[in-house]
Amino acid sequence: MNLDEKTIFELIDKANKTRECAFSPYSHFSVGAALLCKSGKIYTGCNIESEVFTPTICAERTAIFKAMSEGERDFVAIAILGGSSALSKVAEYCSPCGVCRQVLAEFCKADNFDVILYNGTEYKIFKLKDLLPERFTL
Ligand code: THU
Repeated sequence: MNLDEKTIFELIDKANKTRECAFSPYSHFSVGAALLCKSGKIYTGCNIESEVFTPTICAERTAIFKAMSEGERDFVAIAILGGSSALSKVAEYCSPCGVCRQVLAEFCKADNFDVILYNGTEYKIFKLKDLLPERFTL
């Protein structure tokens, strides 16, 4: 889908606000995500870290699992913003980790779902097939 600029910046803005909810006392890196569903609803997510590290969840998976647990199954786009918790504004692109790429690729369309990254000045948009080519499937 071709997203208009208003929608792109609405997602960027929501992802940025959600960074404030990140719980990241170990990495001091806060990430926010905003996921647009075909229903029109936007689900946000932040990273939440655990003292034993492994259960830590990324912002992207928080958002998609929140949406799926409300019955959503059709996804249009996700905006992801991350950076040092010490800085209020992001200064670099936060590229989704491999685990989140796999999860997004399982539930979103390879060539019809936009992954929006923002560095505080400019945005870039990727398709999942480019972020995770030849992904694992059962
Ligand atoms: N993180 C995310 O939330 N999303 C990503 O795609 C990359 C990493 C989080 C996990 C951890 O809490 C912190 O950023 C540093 O890795």
